[in-house]
Amino acid sequence: MSDQHRPAVPAALTRRRTLTGAAGLGVALPLLAACGSDDSGSDAGADAGSGAGDSGTGGSGSAIATSDIPVGGGEIIADAGVVVTQPTEGEFKAFSATCTHTGCQVGSVSDGKIICPCHGSQFSITDGSVLQGPASSPLAEQTVTVAGGEITLG
Ligand code: FES
Repeated sequence: MSDQHRPAVPAALTRRRTLTGAAGLGVALPLLAACGSDDSGSDAGADAGSGAGDSGTGGSGSAIATSDIPVGGGEIIADAGVVVTQPTEGEFKAFSATCTHTGCQVGSVSDGKIICPCHGSQFSITDGSVLQGPASSPLAEQTVTVAGGEITLG
């Protein structure tokens, strides 16, 4: 019977953790720039002519000559209660001329904006959206038909 003296082995030395360095593990994504596959600027004027289809006469009888509507501007057709605009050449839009604030009739079109004289609201000639309050709702869009150099409402 003899005592066995075991030398104490520090636990820290029993395991060796080797930390393999990850340095230099470069990201090897193939950044090959494919040339010539960009087709930017391909959708100019893609929406021309939509909305045609009812070429019959009759209805409201409010025909406006396309030449009367300035590109980037518009005209207020007071009798019909609409403002007709031409945001870009050949694209015609119409909106209610009644301001959504408290109901004044919009008074002018300038710099791409439909302007209400009562309290200064401004609306986009492109979609009738509010550009400046106090109005908070867009002008209601109206349907227009363009044919033979004339814009027909409704
Ligand atoms: Fe048009 Fe007030 S009614 S801004």
